[in-house]
Order: sequence, then structure tokens, then C-alpha cells
Amino acid sequence: MKKLFFLGVILMICSSISMAQSIPTFKVNLDNPSGKISPNMWGIFFEDINLGADGGIYAELVKNRSFEFSTPLMGWKTLGKNIPEGTLIVQNDSKRKGNARSLLINKSTDFSLGLQNEGFRGMGIKSGLEYEFSLLFKSPKPGLTLHLELLDDTDKVLGSSKISLTETAGWTNGAVKFRSVGETKKGKLNIWIQGTGHAEVDMLSLFPEDTWMERSKGLRKDMVQILADMKPGFVRFPGGCIVEGRDLANRFQWKKTVGPIEERELIINRWNTEFNHRLTPDYFQTFGLGFYEYFLLSEDIGAEPLPILNCGMACQFNTGEVVPLDELDSYIQDALDLIEFANGDIDTKWGKLRADMGHPEKFNLKMLGVGNENWGPQYIERLIAFQTVLKAKHPEIAIIASSGTGPDGERFDYLDEQLREMKIDVIDEHYYRPPTWFLSSAARYDDYDRNGPKIFAGEYASHTTRPNGPNKNSWDAALSEAAFLTGLERNGDVVTMASYAPLFGHVDGWQWTPDLIWVDNLKVYGTPSYHIQKLYSTNKGTSIIPLKWDDSNVVGQDSLYASAVYDEGTKELILKFVNHNSRMVDIAFQLDSKKKINGDAVKITINSNDMSAYNSIEDPLKIQPQESSVRYSGKVVKESFLPHSFTVIKIPVK
Ligand code: AHR
Repeated sequence: MKKLFFLGVILMICSSISMAQSIPTFKVNLDNPSGKISPNMWGIFFEDINLGADGGIYAELVKNRSFEFSTPLMGWKTLGKNIPEGTLIVQNDSKRKGNARSLLINKSTDFSLGLQNEGFRGMGIKSGLEYEFSLLFKSPKPGLTLHLELLDDTDKVLGSSKISLTETAGWTNGAVKFRSVGETKKGKLNIWIQGTGHAEVDMLSLFPEDTWMERSKGLRKDMVQILADMKPGFVRFPGGCIVEGRDLANRFQWKKTVGPIEERELIINRWNTEFNHRLTPDYFQTFGLGFYEYFLLSEDIGAEPLPILNCGMACQFNTGEVVPLDELDSYIQDALDLIEFANGDIDTKWGKLRADMGHPEKFNLKMLGVGNENWGPQYIERLIAFQTVLKAKHPEIAIIASSGTGPDGERFDYLDEQLREMKIDVIDEHYYRPPTWFLSSAARYDDYDRNGPKIFAGEYASHTTRPNGPNKNSWDAALSEAAFLTGLERNGDVVTMASYAPLFGHVDGWQWTPDLIWVDNLKVYGTPSYHIQKLYSTNKGTSIIPLKWDDSNVVGQDSLYASAVYDEGTKELILKFVNHNSRMVDIAFQLDSKKKINGDAVKITINSNDMSAYNSIEDPLKIQPQESSVRYSGKVVKESFLPHSFTVIKIPVK
């Protein structure tokens, strides 16, 4: 019996020794960084898709406020019965720059007449909040009063006010503020037209008071805040295919998005008609979020602006129109003028406009994208023309160029070779791929040319069900992105910027999935992918620390992925680790360094045992990071990692 007991003890000791020995040991060479992390490494891709701008971050609640949609009264309904012919007439006055249409009201007797606006899938209205109704009007024959009512989805009045259309010869601004006493996600606005008289009205608008930075007629605060929380390094804007447009006439032209709001000429949003299964006939771009507001937003959230301009080509998935090379000058001039708008002195034409709009200080633009997902020799020809002029006039501006729609194949190889030959500054790579691609591509950049152009991972997302969507922002997708991002971080000397795409999805108005952040008219939440991006961005460090397992990078051996950075500011070693196994794993990180651990570490873990789980408006925090404090000593950090988890460990060192 005694013999058996000793045998058991010996076996236990042996097995615990062999367990200790079998713990993988990752060597962290803290004293020999392999490169610098770009300060604007992790950023944001913004495109007006999925009601991202109109109906989203741009806080305007009235849809089709200036009657410029293809169907002039889309979004509006008339209220009242037996309305005499000629009472409400849409007028088109081509002398009015960018905003030709208005609504004529002719009312010679006092009958019940009104207009109702349905908002963007309803209006999100909050209790106790003040709302500002405004309009432009002309009232040669006064006598009309607008009685405003804010309704919930059961037609209960939440707030009301009045505004009289006093006598004016020319266009006049009118505005009134009133408070809501209730909340609704699907509100609407009634405008009762009382009295008699003649008037012309336009820009009928309603904004909440709680905009970002309380700017009048500004952006939705909660949507900007969730971006600011990421501490993004840059904001790519305005896209995306929207840069190109279905055809050249409907491309994004920055000059039409600045200056007085009522003169910004609206266009049809290219996502309006893109997908037959997700047609969005009421999707237009009013440019309330134009280039000035974009620069301001970037500045507010501490991010570098990264505008992408049209290169003389429409979307190659649509018309694929190109502008003749001898007519490319105006496109190149647009780029030069944008640089002047951002960085020019206030006595220059475009610098003055920036100052007149409220920002005499320069926006300090440092980079510019030419073309979005463009490809083929027709792209290279146009890009060369841009590069020649831009480099001659603005050598200080880095040029970012497209490598097409995917990260491999003939199109990619051709462009990659051409762009390297042209010595373009930065190559924009896009990958919308399944989780397996993200997992198997963690080493993609390990052998990239260190002397050529830098890489911008300009659009990516792990797609679980593409092309049959809708893709869910599941934990499966997010964890595969986390694994891939260890590879971007490890190669931060080559990959200098990265952004997930698209950014926003409106639950009632999306065209494309998955998206980083979802919203309805009142709420906003981050997907698991959002939390991954944010964890990278808020723990980006300043230099890359080599981390090896048996002299190799950790890029999927035993379904493990890891990277490390050091942060000069906080004096922390930051480890990132993905356990893609369905079991716990124990890892020892051996610090190869003269430095010592100097205080408690912070461990942030995000995981789910259900790989198909996702966050939602109803359950927005189902998957979210959990933070704890841990004490390590000596030069070996031993840690256990949950199944299917991503962990960030921040260790103070001295
Ligand atoms: O992010 C959605 C779309 O994907 C972008 O507009 C385009 O660049 C890409 O194809």
C-alpha cells in the first residue's frame, strides 16, 4: 500500500514537471525593438453607406428637407382633405445654386392643411431634449403660421410650437426651439399650415440640441463619441465606392460639399440602387457632413484626415466610365484645391473659404488617396498624371493608391508591381474574406519588402457567410480579425495604417454587412470587431517588440497568435494574444531584457464560448472586454488564456 502511495506521488510530480515543461514559452526581446509603430496606425473608414451620414451621424431628422430628391415629395405626406389644386406646388428655380427646388404654398381660405415628414426610418426623439426647427422662407403675402408637432409612433404629441411666416421679399431664415416630453425611436414631424397667404419654403429642418460639441445642426453625439473612444489615428473619408460614384456625374466632389449648407447640391447615394435585395430608394447625399465638417470631426477626435479623391474613374463594378486623359486636369485641380482648403493661408481662395466657415487655423493635411478600388492600366495612367503634379507642387503630401478590390490575383499583382515601380508612397490593400483567410494570413506581411511603399490596410472585415449574407458581426469573425491584426502590429514598420470597413450600419437601413458599429435612431453599440479594433488602437504602443516561439513568429501554430509592443509614453510592455482553441492554454512569456517588471499589470480579455454570438441593440454588451489587475514577478509572465479569447496584457517595466 505504502509502495503504491509513493509511486502515485512520484507519478504526480513527474506529470506536473512534464506539464511545466510543456507550457509553450514565448521569448519577448524587449531590448531590441524591430521597428516603430506609426502613431496613426489604427483608424476609421467612413463612408455614407447603411445610412452612415444622412439618417446616421448627421443629426438632421427631416428627410428630403429641400425637396431635391428625384421624387420631390419623397418622405413627405400632405395632411388634410379636399386640398384645392395649386395649394402646394414644387417650384424649380435654376438661379438658386445647388438647391433649385422649393415648395410654394398658396392658401386663400383657411382649411386644414399640413405636411408630415417621416424622418429616416422615423425620427429618434428624446424626452426633455430641445429641438430646433428651422427653414428658409419667402412670404410676399404674409398670413401663414406653421404649427409644428412632434409625434411618436402612436401619434401622441411629444412637443409643439409655432412660427409665423412674416412678410419678407427675399429668402429669410426662420427658426424656433421646443422641447419634447417623451421618447420615441419612430417619431415624425407634422407641420400644420394655418391661416391664409402665399409663401415659398425650403430647407425644412429639425435638429436635436445634444449634438457633438453642441454645434448647431451638427453630428449625432453618441455616434461621434463611440468613434472618439477608439482614439483613432486617422479618418478615411468619404469612402469607399462613393468616391467613384456609379457614374462620373454622381461621383463625390468635395467642392460641392462645402460653403453654405443650402447651396450644397445633393446627389443620389450610389448605395441607393446597388443591391437589388437591399434597394434604398430614399438614400441621397445632402452633404450636411461635407469636407469641412469632416476635417473638423477628425480634429475633434485627434485623428489625421485621410481624404480619398476620385481619380477620373467611376466605379468599375458599375459604369466604369473614365474621363479622357486630356480632361483630367480638373480632377487634379480638385486635389490641389483640397490641399489649399486644408492647409492654405487664409488669403488663398480655398484657405479663405475654410476661414470663412469658421476655421482659420490649418487642418494640417498630410496624406491624400487618389482613387478607391480602381484597377487596370486606365487607373495607372491617371494616377501617374496625379502623382506628377502632386509631387511637384506638394512633395510633403503622401499619396495613397489603390491595389484594387482584393489582396491577391492578377489585378492585385499587376497593380502592386506598377505601384512599386512608380514609388508610390502608400499602397491601399482591401480584404473582405472569410475567417479562415484572416487566420491563415497572419504572416502575410512578415516577408514584405521593407524598402518599398508602406501599406495601408484600408478596408477589411471578416465575412462569415459572404456572398449569401447577411453577415453577422459574430465572435468568430472578430477573433479571426484579432489574430490577423497581430500580423499587422508585428509588421507595423511596413503596415502603417489599418481600418475596418464599413464603419456604421443602421438596423433599419443597411445595405452591407458586417459593419463595425450598429445604430438605430436612439442607440449605438460596438460589435465584437469594434472592441477588437479599439483594443488595438488604445494599446498601440510606440515600438514593435520581437516575440518568438522556438525562433518563429506566433502565427497560428497550435491555433495561437501573438504580438508585442512597447509604449514609450506609459513605459509598458503590451502583449496581445489570441487563443483560437476551444480549450484553455497556458503560456509563459519570457522577458529577454535588462528591464524589470515594475508594478501590477492590467489584463484585458474578451471571449465567448459561442463563436456565433454577437452583440445587438437588445443585448449590446453580450461580448465585451473584461479588465483585471494581475501581479507578475521575475522575468517570466505565466498566464492562462480562456478558450476562444483575445487578451491584452499591459506590463509596467523599468
Ligand atoms: O465598405 C464597403 C465597400 O467595399 C466600399 O465602398 C468599397 O470600397 C468596397 O468594395
